[in-house]
Amino acid sequence: MKYELMHRNLPTAVIEIDETKGFIKKIESIYEPDHLPVGTTDDTGKTNRNSVNEWWLNRSIPVYRPGLVKMLYLFEFSDPAQLLLRCHGLSLSDQYWIRPAGNDLSWEKINFFDNSFSEDVGDYLFGLNNHKYNMDFSSPDCTTNGNLKKRWKIIDGKRYLIKGGDLQEPFNEVIASKIMDQLDIQHVPYSLSRIDDILYSLCEDFVKPETDLVPAWMIIQTRKKRNETSAWQHFVDCCNDLGIPGTVEFLDRMIVLDCIIANEDRHYNNFGALRNAETLEWLGMAPIYDSGSSLGFDKDDWEILSGRYTFSKPFRRYHEEQLNLVTDFSWIDFRPLSNIREIIHETMSPELKIGKTSERRIEMITEAVQTRINYLSDVAENSFV
Ligand SMILES: Nc1ncnc2c1ncn2[C@@H]1O[C@H](COP(=O)(O)OP(=O)(O)OP(=O)(O)O)[C@@H](O)[C@H]1O
Ligand SMILES: [Mg+2]
Repeated sequence: MKYELMHRNLPTAVIEIDETKGFIKKIESIYEPDHLPVGTTDDTGKTNRNSVNEWWLNRSIPVYRPGLVKMLYLFEFSDPAQLLLRCHGLSLSDQYWIRPAGNDLSWEKINFFDNSFSEDVGDYLFGLNNHKYNMDFSSPDCTTNGNLKKRWKIIDGKRYLIKGGDLQEPFNEVIASKIMDQLDIQHVPYSLSRIDDILYSLCEDFVKPETDLVPAWMIIQTRKKRNETSAWQHFVDCCNDLGIPGTVEFLDRMIVLDCIIANEDRHYNNFGALRNAETLEWLGMAPIYDSGSSLGFDKDDWEILSGRYTFSKPFRRYHEEQLNLVTDFSWIDFRPLSNIREIIHETMSPELKIGKTSERRIEMITEAVQTRINYLSDVAENSFV
């Protein structure tokens, strides 16, 4: 079936979508090449169907998401990408959507930033309302990726992402937020929320109705990487070409944070840049989000302190190595981190109360973080010599 790919109210291209699988079969015509998703055009300016399709499918819920396969089976979907067709592909992270060709539906009428949306998918994925047969799939939950259990909810008129994780992730998001508060690093604030005795992290939508979050994996597709160019340099070159301000300063801060919290999952979909969806002006790198796969989240207590089997992403394999890419440490004031013990203890105490962690584990995490702060502080000091 033919659809128009829309960017807010601007028809950008006509595409043909396979209804049985949800993927883009064909790009029929392009009206606004500059408004196509970033990185979907090759060096010669030609739009690549595979790249557009990769971008489109990346909007769908990954099959590993808890509860998804059962929901697909029950409602007879053969692929999570089919859910994109049931919500016009609308998301709360950018301004793209689709409408059947010939339809004059407007963005104002259906976008999820200003209009409410169905809770059915979120309820289903959270194990509530599992017996509903007349599901309304019109929800940004259908277009939010990431493996962890999650849903969007409107609370007091604001859109919040509620995210689970059985391995300490909600607590880690909050600890990372507090560390970034202390270091004055721009970030998405996370807090804890309890639903039916399960703890989740809660963060407000940082994308506005006029902005797009463009993940780093799309940015690095905007030019060909030469073999002799490092991954860090390639990312910086792409950002400079596009005109994204403040990239190196942002990377310095992200690498430092990830070293402190021993983040193991800063892949290219876990950071990005923001642009104005109408003027296409780049606003800068997005505030730091998704830092939960850290602080030894999947490790046994004894492994946390040793730091063994702790790998970094996206530029180097080890944090110590990745730290060599930091161009400037002069902005870091380590003094506000002197209360790191309180930060970790106060944040993790709800988990202690529900018996999901131990004093010993909290102590191990604290000691490991303190050790990394001391290491970082030495590296920073030596960088001035
Ligand atoms: N506060 C937010 N505002 C807008 N979009 C967001 C926000 N938080 C997350 N997103 C979008 O939702 C996606 C999934 O969220 P997130 O990365 O936090 O989930 P995750 O399950 O932890 O991911 P992963 O699989 O990387 O562990 C992000 O890649 C981003 O596109
Ligand atoms: Mg993520």
